[in-house]
Amino acid sequence: MERTFLMVKPDGVQRGLVGRIITRLEDKGLKLVAAKPVQVTEEQAKKHYAEHEGKAFYDNLVRFITSGPVFAMVWEGDEIVTLSRIVIGKTNVTEAQPGTIRGDYAAHTPSNLIHGSDSVESAEREIANFFAPHEILSYKKSTDSWI
Ligand code: PPS
Repeated sequence: MERTFLMVKPDGVQRGLVGRIITRLEDKGLKLVAAKPVQVTEEQAKKHYAEHEGKAFYDNLVRFITSGPVFAMVWEGDEIVTLSRIVIGKTNVTEAQPGTIRGDYAAHTPSNLIHGSDSVESAEREIANFFAPHEILSYKKSTDSWI
């Protein structure tokens, strides 16, 4: 079963949007299998954003994600990487459509509320950086298979 790593960033936690963001994903019919608040360490942040090392915004990215608590989550289901990114909306907030999380709640690109893995391979690496296997639950949900 496909999994993805989603993380409400410090701006989303500070603005009290964790509950509303989870509701958006649940409303879509997606399944939450792990969640916890985390104060990201510099080492964890650098590992998480390793692919962006050397880019102009890299230092800002690490500073921002370690600036306050985040809410780390694992979601599971068919095509979950793609589906969750549709609910999240485009990275650049000027391109994020209304009806998406970023389109409705985010007004600045670095402070775009939530991170979502961009591939199954990234998801596996990112999940392992934040969760131990025993923290991820396995259970059936009515939305797993519609009749
Ligand atoms: S790239 O180069 O196209 O792969 O980058 P992109 O996918 O657009 O963005 C990768 C993550 O970097 C964040 N970002 C920034 N952070 C701080 N400052 C600036 N200027 C900036 N520009 C982009 C962007 O929100 C992405 O974060 P995540 O957590 O992956 O969504």
